[in-house]
Amino acid sequence: MTDIKRVSTGIKGVDKLVEGGFPESSITLVSGGAGCGKTIFCNQFLWEGLQNGEKVRFISLEEPVDDILADAKVFGWQFEDYEDSGQFKMEYIKPASGSHGFIDKISELASEGDVDRLVIDSVSVMLGAFGGTQAKKRDNLYDLVRNIKRAGPTTILTSEIPEDDETKLSRFKVAEFVADGVVVLYYTGVGEGTFRNFEVRKMRRTDHTPGTHPFEINDQGIKLKRDTGF
Ligand SMILES: Nc1ncnc2c1ncn2[C@@H]1O[C@H](COP(=O)(O)OP(=O)(O)O)[C@@H](O)[C@H]1O
Ligand SMILES: [Mg+2]
Repeated sequence: MTDIKRVSTGIKGVDKLVEGGFPESSITLVSGGAGCGKTIFCNQFLWEGLQNGEKVRFISLEEPVDDILADAKVFGWQFEDYEDSGQFKMEYIKPASGSHGFIDKISELASEGDVDRLVIDSVSVMLGAFGGTQAKKRDNLYDLVRNIKRAGPTTILTSEIPEDDETKLSRFKVAEFVADGVVVLYYTGVGEGTFRNFEVRKMRRTDHTPGTHPFEINDQGIKLKRDTGF
């Protein structure tokens, strides 16, 4: 057991796999295909922070704010209730190809002081919008990560893994390289059935439990299925 402050993820079962939570001020990549639950994971993580009285921020590059808020409400997460106090803020940034203003804006929002939890959904959209070489993308991502690290929130970046295009996995690799942790949400269809699995691929400063762990999404959000005292 390492002596690091842990941040509860709010996802039932996950904390047990990572010594009680994500390391404070770490950056974790949550990756997976479309519809695997990345955005729900992020919302659940931020909601947990709000319940602890923390200040949280959501930067969306994919879905409009109203859509995310409406989806969250289904799980009982009324983020709007925390807007007036400043505890919660969600911003949509329209990805603009090759635009410096775009990355500056993300960096500016991400480096706001005094924020406990930060989500950027998704970093694949951001890297895609940059264009340019792999090296350039990595530089941009490093800049962003440096800004986040300076500000210190415990952060989730999401990354989409397209099932049909292996070459795009390189985007994921760039992000994986700079993150402190990588968790993967798998969604597999077999015959009539579908299976969701969760895996901690990497977590710095953490003796994490290896292997894949089945999970479900129900009206309360994401929950690991195996009940071993979670
Ligand atoms: N109330 C619910 N009960 C069960 N599954 C749900 C519920 N709400 C959403 N889902 C599942 O979650 C998926 C969307 O998750 P989302 O986090 O938006 O995916 P991603 O961000 O990875 O694309 C839906 O495709 C659906 O399968
Ligand atoms: Mg999403």
